This record gives sequence, structure tokens and C-alpha cells, in this order.
Amino acid sequence: MTKYVINGGRPLNGEVEISGAKNAAVAIIPAALMVDGVCRIENLPEISDVTMLLTILKEMGADIRVVNKRTIDIDCKRVRTSQATFDAMRRIRASYYLLGALLGRHGRADIAMPGGCNFGGVRPIDQHIKGFTAMGASVNIQNGIVSAETGGRLRGTSIFLDVVSVGATMNIMLGAALAEGRTYIENAAKEPHIVDLANFLNSMGADVRGAGTNVIKINGVTRMKGGFYSIIPDQIEAGTYMAAVAGTGGRVIIKDVIPKHLECISSKLREMGVTVIDLADSVIVQRTGPLIRTNIKTMPYPGFPTDMQPQLATILCQAEGTSIITEGVWDNRFKYVDELMKMGGSIQVEGKTAIIEGVGSLTGAPLKAGDLRAGAALVIAGLCASGQTIVEGVNYIERGYEKMVKKLTLLGADIKSVFQPDESVAKKIIG
Ligand code: EPZ
Repeated sequence: MTKYVINGGRPLNGEVEISGAKNAAVAIIPAALMVDGVCRIENLPEISDVTMLLTILKEMGADIRVVNKRTIDIDCKRVRTSQATFDAMRRIRASYYLLGALLGRHGRADIAMPGGCNFGGVRPIDQHIKGFTAMGASVNIQNGIVSAETGGRLRGTSIFLDVVSVGATMNIMLGAALAEGRTYIENAAKEPHIVDLANFLNSMGADVRGAGTNVIKINGVTRMKGGFYSIIPDQIEAGTYMAAVAGTGGRVIIKDVIPKHLECISSKLREMGVTVIDLADSVIVQRTGPLIRTNIKTMPYPGFPTDMQPQLATILCQAEGTSIITEGVWDNRFKYVDELMKMGGSIQVEGKTAIIEGVGSLTGAPLKAGDLRAGAALVIAGLCASGQTIVEGVNYIERGYEKMVKKLTLLGADIKSVFQPDESVAKKIIG
């Protein structure tokens, strides 16, 4: 088992480069299944979710060539199967994008029910299914396998999403790209990765318009050809480093970002007394004074992102006064709060609200990450705290953050990744 050992209390200073966006990459890789020809994808983040999806595609018969550590060529011409029922699928949430991609390409798909981060609540896919059903597919779920069939091509239609769903918007967009006729997705999500997927599809020959607004129009095409595409920078990875500097103090240049995508995070940090300066493709984050309390409500983009909620809650533990955080996207995303309490945090959770009483400073403790963003928040807590913090469950963190330990070390943090053989495994080997 790998743990992060952090000796906290050091300000962060220097420069950090942000990797490609996880939530764009995990949709763009399955989208390569729909393309006739070679897709060259650049700026892929080196994270385990990406590795897992590439493994799934390979098992399906795709040729994958590594050009360099951030660039790969995917050629799916030898993929004949419409089945993706591997165990790996159950470990990654984004495996649901294979449903839209396979339905679009073959008119049929059998995929294992997606797994992924479990931050406490239910993670339904009814809106994905509603979309594909409206487009003429019959969808069944049995024994953990989602099977969908159209008997031909999906048919374009109007789909009004009951909730603003990133996954349903992107999945339906995938299926619609090769559907017969025109599809409208109304009440669509507007996150930067939605625009990125649309740009990827268009650069391969699809006709997707309006991504980034709440109505997306897709004119189905009969084929997509190969091409090149470079993934956008990761908004949440950038936001996580911004929160880390806000928490520890110091001055960091967050490089290779799109400052516009960070506005929802930057404006909240400014309210908290942090200086954030936007440059062309970087932001400077600096904190010298105390953190000011604030209230946050998470919402779909361009609102404050739910994927930044645990990181900001963590640093608000250090602000003077009471801060209130309302989770507006997920039913339950406060499981990490118990870990912050072990560090002296004072947080009361009532349904979708967390009331944080600032305690000045946190103290190091042994902690366990339960999901990706909670894991990042616990690392930030460890960086801010006095004494030593040990974070377990780092496999969650490594699903979505490229080389976090290295990046933080370059900023002056005292953090080490330590491998410790699992005692029960060791006992079995020794006998
Ligand atoms: C994506 O999940 C992200 N994951 C999540 O990031 C992120 O938290 C979420 O969007 C919201 O921004 C990926 O992109 C792989 P949703 P997704 O469908 O698409 C409800 C991270 O840490 N809903 O936008 O699964 C749902 O319950 C991860 O990087 C339905 O009711 O989220 C939730 O309340 C964690 N029915 C809301 O919509 C559905 O069919 C938003 O979910 C689908 C969703």
C-alpha cells in the first residue's frame, strides 16, 4: 500500500505545470472508437484513469501507439466487438462513455456498469439511458451489464435532460455524432470538457454546435476520419494547486491553464483574501494575510465546481469565523469531513450543508482518502497542518492527479510517497 507522508507548515513557492484535463480525456479516448483512421491525442494526463481506459480499448482490439509520454495514436479499425464487460470497467466511472461510443459506431453496446469514486451518494445514469432510448435504442440492465441495441443507427431527436448532467450530455453527444439526422440536447451541461469533446469530435469530422451553451445541436454524420487533437488543461487540477497555495501561504505561478475556466475558483479565492492574477496562459496565486471566511454553493459550470468543494472546505478550516458550504450537485459529498475533524477541524454537516467554524490551524494526523477530490483535500490539509500527516488511499488521488508528489515537492512541500507492503499480504507470503 502506498501512503503519502507530509510534514506540514511550509508555504508553497515557485511554478507548477498543469496537465491535460482528466474529465475531457476520459471521454475523448472512448470517442476514438467512432473514428475511421488514426486519432493522435496530445496533452493526455499521466493518470491511472487514462491508463485504465487505454487498457480497455486495447483489450477490445484497438492499436495504441505511444508517441511520447503525453501523446498517443489510437487506431480502432480492428475493433469488431461492441462488448466492454471487463473488470476494469467497474473501477472507473467514465467507462459509461463506451456506451455512447459503441452505440454510435455499432448500433449495439454491452458494457459493465460503471464504478469509480464513491463519495457517499447514489450516482445514477438514468439520463444517459433516457437519451439513448429517445434515440431509438432499447436498453436493459441485468447482472451489472448495460445492454443497448438500436438494430441500425441511433436516430436524432430532441432530448431534454431532467438534471444538468455532464456525463449524460457527453454520452448523448457521442451517440448523436454518428446518428441519423439531428439531435438537440436541451438543459445541457456547459463544463469546459463538454466544449473540448465537441471540438475533438468536430476535428474528426462530426458536426456539433452550441457546446458550452445549454442547447447543443448535433447533425449526425456517416463517418469520422482520423486527425490530431490536443486536450485542454485540467481546470480542477489547477484549482487544487490554487487552493493549496491559498491554504499554506506563499506565491505560485500556475502554468499552462485557461484563466477563463478558473474564474469561478479565482473569484472565490479573492473573496477569501487571496491574490489571484490572470495572465495569458497562467495565473499567479499569492497569500500573505489571513484567510477570510466565506460561503460557497456548488453548481454546474460556470458555477463553483463540486470537484473543488472538499479542497476549499479544508482551507476554510483555517479562516476566522463561520463558513457555510452547500453542495448543490451531489446528494452526499461530505464523507471527508470526518478526516478533517481528526486534525482538529470543527465542521458540522446537516444534509447538503457543512458549517465550518474556523479553528486557525490544523494538526497532523493519519488520514484515509475515500475518493479523488477528498484525497486531494486531505493532502492540502496535511500541507497546511503542523506536524506529520499520513494519507492512505492514494490510489484514488493517482486516478486523477499527475505526479502530485513531484509537483508539490518542486513547490517546496515536504511530501513523500512511501510504499509499505500490506501486512495481510506479507503474512500470507511469509506463512
Ligand atoms: C462528472 O460526473 C465528473 N466525472 C465528476 O467528477 C463531477 O463531479 C460531475 O461531473 C459534476 O461536475 C467525470 O467527468 C468522469 P453528472 P458525472 O452526471 O458526469 C445527477 C471527479 O472528481 N444525475 O454531471 O457522473 C447526479 O446524481 C469526478 O473528477 C442523475 O440524476 O456527473 C448528480 O446529482 C467525481 N442522473 C448530478 O446529476 C443521471 O443520469 C450531476 O451528475 C446522471 C446524473
